[in-house]
Amino acid sequence: MMKLYIINGPNLNLLGIREPEHYGNTTYEELLAMIDTHAKELGIEVVCYQSNHEGDLVDKIQEAYFEGGDGIIINPAAYTHTSIALLDAIKSVGIPTVEVHISKVEEREKFRQISYIRAACQKTITGEGVKGYLQAMDFLYELLSKGEKK
Ligand code: DQA
Repeated sequence: MMKLYIINGPNLNLLGIREPEHYGNTTYEELLAMIDTHAKELGIEVVCYQSNHEGDLVDKIQEAYFEGGDGIIINPAAYTHTSIALLDAIKSVGIPTVEVHISKVEEREKFRQISYIRAACQKTITGEGVKGYLQAMDFLYELLSKGEKK
């Protein structure tokens, strides 16, 4: 069974509470339920993880490699704009990865215009709200079903 890792960075556990004008009203728990329902529809396994700590996110990316993850969906949150360690982790494991941002980062502050991980990602989804995670699941499902990387 196809296995996707869905990894969220700092402050995304506060979805629904945090700046709803940027991130909407859906809570992190509700997002997990949406992901779970969609995984069942696709017939795939998902491992969801959130941490506020950069090194923990690196560890989870490495776990995806050692535990047979076929794809990674990652919203590194603020670490998007700062972390070469996350870029190196994704390059190290060589697993097809989609970068997701809930808000339309390209229309926000200048410091959000840099994404270090983007260079290692197959696709970037921004500004689709929490639906972006489900779109990323569909993208990886299609990509991996084609046998491009399995
Ligand atoms: C975010 C955008 C980042 O700039 C920000 O630091 C976040 C969330 C998003 O999902 O839109 O924490 O990644």
